[in-house]
Amino acid sequence: MARILGIETSCDETAAAVVVDGRHIEANVIASQDDVHRKTGGVVPETASRLHLRHLVPVLERALDTAGRDWSEIDAVAVTHGPGLAGSLLVGLNTAKAVSYARGLPLVGINHLEGHVYANWLDQDGARPEATISGADGPEPSLPLVALIVSGGHTDLVSMEAHGAYRRLGRTLDDAAGEAFDKVARMLGLGYPGGPAVQEAAAGGNPKRYALPRAWLKGSWDFSFSGLKTAVLRTVRDAGDGLVVPDLAAAFQDAIVDVLATKTIAAAREHGAQAIALAGGVAANVPLRARIAALSPVPVLIPPIRLCTDNAAMIAAAGYFRWAAGERSGLELDVFPSLPIA
Ligand code: KG4
Ligand code: ZN
Repeated sequence: MARILGIETSCDETAAAVVVDGRHIEANVIASQDDVHRKTGGVVPETASRLHLRHLVPVLERALDTAGRDWSEIDAVAVTHGPGLAGSLLVGLNTAKAVSYARGLPLVGINHLEGHVYANWLDQDGARPEATISGADGPEPSLPLVALIVSGGHTDLVSMEAHGAYRRLGRTLDDAAGEAFDKVARMLGLGYPGGPAVQEAAAGGNPKRYALPRAWLKGSWDFSFSGLKTAVLRTVRDAGDGLVVPDLAAAFQDAIVDVLATKTIAAAREHGAQAIALAGGVAANVPLRARIAALSPVPVLIPPIRLCTDNAAMIAAAGYFRWAAGERSGLELDVFPSLPIA
């Protein structure tokens, strides 16, 4: 049995968690900066790192407190060291190093994207919620699996062959899926963060009123969303006062979900995947979850929505599997803002 403390500060959530054996959450504390970044319509890196500095120690203390544990019961510290904003990553990494040094605890550096995938190993209230959504029957995700990692900064289609072993099949050539949601939300005058706002607006919309393009990039597993984004902008300009926001939101969401779901399922078939895992903030999107679950030939693992967006439990889960494999990071571990998953 191993109890891992996870620390995550790669973007705009200050988070700490205590997780046992990579699966059982004892505490998962998140201080969100959404309210601050909403005022600027996006994350200002300097503001984000200042807020991490202010919040991380109280968040850490709260995590231990909630778990009812003290430092002597922690076996290792797992921390995100990339990808992400350099200044934000530094706050988490330096704090993790200080704790590791002061308490004599092993340090394990984690790739944020790998963390998102490991949200699928976490259980919630002793049950695996995705088992009921998707028909997954085992207690654990089966490998190899194909993971679609879709967040504000990333869109990666990855084959996970074993714990810690990834092959990147494709990625976005321009905007990340979440970034496209955020930018379109701004064009449509919807809220921040954009994904949930677009999803909500689209719920009452007719996706057929506006025709939007889909970039299939046939023959590759890559994605491109900038053409779609430009088409939305052109539609907004052309429609003027006659714009029906819910219909355009629905058409946009439909286009993005269509491409993500179709390519993910095709990749799973071609690579003999035993499962599809969704990961990252955009995996919170309900139509995306529903489309993939409906079309997939294999079980679909979908973390509960609160574990799709940035949190430290997923970092602790990934950290457990690396720790169990004997991996340790030295105090020379550095931040790596553009760290790829493979
Ligand atoms: O993984 P995450 O919390 O942070 C990053 O590592 O980027 O992802 C945040 C992204 C944002 O772009 C947000 O708009 C998007 O996830 N998002 C959604 C939904 N909820 C969050 N996108 C579409 N539909 C949602 N329901
Ligand atoms: Zn993330």
